This record gives sequence, structure tokens and C-alpha cells, in this order.
Amino acid sequence: MDLKELEEFYLKRQSCREFSDMVVPDEVIAEVCRVALLAPSAMNAQPWQLVAVTGERRADILKNIQRLGMNKFASKASALVVVASDKSGGMMKVGEIFKENEFVCNDLGILTAHLILAAEAAGLGSCIIGWRDEEKLRESLGFKKNVTIPAIVALGYTAEGYPVREKKRKPFSDAFTLLK
Ligand SMILES: Cc1cc2nc3c(=O)[nH]c(=O)nc-3n(C[C@H](O)[C@H](O)[C@H](O)COP(=O)(O)O)c2cc1C
Repeated sequence: MDLKELEEFYLKRQSCREFSDMVVPDEVIAEVCRVALLAPSAMNAQPWQLVAVTGERRADILKNIQRLGMNKFASKASALVVVASDKSGGMMKVGEIFKENEFVCNDLGILTAHLILAAEAAGLGSCIIGWRDEEKLRESLGFKKNVTIPAIVALGYTAEGYPVREKKRKPFSDAFTLLK
């Protein structure tokens, strides 16, 4: 893939807030997660876990991401993928000694980006959901208190006729500086 094709791919990827009724098979969801987990991380510590919640168990997640009428569209997502930290790996312990713990947040963000792009490549719509009750999510998933859940990613087939929106981004010159 060249840069032009990558740009076109990025332009096509958008937050999907209208999913079709068609259910995405669990195997497809697992495959998207498998590919996303090729994401890089500091010291290759991979301080993460993905929990794909499908079927009836989605209700546990939905009630904690739909407060105040937010994220209603997520009810029709086939899967709600919980992006969570997992600091139990060996490299993570080394990292802690060197006070590298702060990278976990970056690592989970990079994983989330890989996940939405892998979903796009698999023909799925996706939406990152940051509006959440993290404490309640932790409880409902039986996670320990030190587990962070920076995002949930809603996955599903995009509803037919859902338009590709024009990307609204600040001017390149406001976000980019070249220093020599
Ligand atoms: C960290 C993060 C949290 C987000 N949380 C939500 C959310 O709770 N609900 C929602 O509908 N969209 C959410 N979004 C999606 C953004 O609104 C969206 O990415 C942005 O408007 C750009 O649009 P695009 O993804 O279609 O290019 C979130 C995105 C990020 C990166």
C-alpha cells in the first residue's frame, strides 16, 4: 500500500454511529482483535488485554457507556471491545522499575488505533467510546482496581446507505511544524 492508498483508507475510516442488524460472527471479531494486537508498545511490554463482549453480555457494557442518553447507537453494535490494561507481564515489571508505567496510556491508545483500522480493513464499522463509567465497567467485568479501561470500541456492519462524511480536521499548518 502506498501513501495515497493509505490516505484514502484513512479517509474512508470514520466513526460509525449506525450499525446494521446483521450480526458479525465472533470469529471475525476475534480475527480483527488478533491483527490489532500486532500494535507496538513501549519495550514490547504489551500491557493490554482486549475483551470482546458480544451477545447478551453486551448489556453489562451498554449500561455503563450510555449514561445521560449518550452512545445510543452502541446498542446495535455486534461487539463492544473493552480495551484494558494488563500490567502482569514480565516486561511490565521491568518497566515499573524504570518508572516506564506512564507508557501504558500511550500503548493502549496505539492499540485502539490499530483496532479501528483493522476493523475497517475487515469491512466493519467502528466507533471508539470514551464516554464511560470506568469504575462500574471494572466491576461488571470483574477486573482488579488497578486495571484501566481507557476505551470501548463498538464494532459492527455499517448500516446500508450510511454516508462517508468529509473529514473535519484543523488546517495542516496549525498542526504541523517543520524545524530545521
Ligand atoms: C478517545 C476517544 C473517545 C471517543 N469517545 C466517543 C464517544 O464516547 N462517543 C462517540 O460517539 N464518539 C466518540 N469518539 C469518536 C470521535 O468523536 C471521532 O473520532 C471524531 O469526531 C472524528 O471523527 P471520525 O472518527 O469520524 O473521523 C471518541 C474518539 C476518541 C479518539
